[in-house]
Amino acid sequence: MAVSLDLKEEILALKKARNAVILAHNYQTGEVQDVADFVGDSLGLAYYAKATDADVIAFCGVHFMAETAKIINPGKIVVLPDKDAGCTLEEACPAGDLAAFLTEHSERNYYVIAYINCSGAVKALSDVICTSGNAVAIVRQAPADRPILFVPDENLGAWVIEQSGRKMDLWKGHCDVHTAFTRDSIQRIKTEYPDALVVAHPECTHAVRLLANEVCSTEKMISYCRSAPVQHLIVVTESGMLHRLRKECPDKTLIAGPTDLCACSDCLHMKRNTLEKLRDCLKFLEPRVEMDEALRLRAEGPILRMLAQSK
Ligand code: 13P
Ligand code: SF4
Repeated sequence: MAVSLDLKEEILALKKARNAVILAHNYQTGEVQDVADFVGDSLGLAYYAKATDADVIAFCGVHFMAETAKIINPGKIVVLPDKDAGCTLEEACPAGDLAAFLTEHSERNYYVIAYINCSGAVKALSDVICTSGNAVAIVRQAPADRPILFVPDENLGAWVIEQSGRKMDLWKGHCDVHTAFTRDSIQRIKTEYPDALVVAHPECTHAVRLLANEVCSTEKMISYCRSAPVQHLIVVTESGMLHRLRKECPDKTLIAGPTDLCACSDCLHMKRNTLEKLRDCLKFLEPRVEMDEALRLRAEGPILRMLAQSK
């Protein structure tokens, strides 16, 4: 008699059969996070992807994250539950525009630092990659005798300038999710919870960062909230973060930072991945992330430089 497995059991059985590993970003839905082998920020996911000996990586995140895993694991099959899971920051910096800019300003001899939220083609044009978790450290290690061009996030770039004191030219890109938080929307929730501390992602605007007690990557939010000497914390980032934080900090009261329009903020791209699509990508090994080998090789160097420099 055929046994009707529930979705979660089906995913775990397929994972075993495929010798796969399931990676999930902190912004995935709670149910996707709960079936993953590893949940983390972009930096943690890149390290995990580099170290795994699985044959298949099922990457529950957005395309640039799965593509990064493929760039550093060319021999592995990398699948992404929804191939349309993109990123507004990646869209803000087309490789052709960056190449044209660098040609036009070739006399500057820019040292290009690319935030990991960009395409493989942009990574290939860069000197080094960074994530929100290591951006300050990577910028501090940039050659002192070359001007820096930081792409594609002007808000993260501005925060790194404040932290590192290093001057940089910034590409004019932003994340639509994090720039939806406003000074007023955060001020309002602070009034409701006057004792709360505010933790915000560096992709938020300067005005919002000014209201934050801590600005950090999604992974660092966990240690910050865990050790914060208060009961209430206002978390100004994508709403999936609350699931991870509530698991890791069960005795804290975690409040989603609201936008002007709603009580929290979803990245629609991150939320394209579902358990059904995860099951299907493990079953059919599609959609796969594939890359031209010459491009992959050019994109790999800057990622490996980042991993070496963030140790
Ligand atoms: P983290 O690396 O901090 O998780 O950020 C990734 C991201 O896409 C933020 O919007
Ligand atoms: Fe990109 Fe913003 Fe979504 Fe992060 S939250 S994946 S930066 S669109």
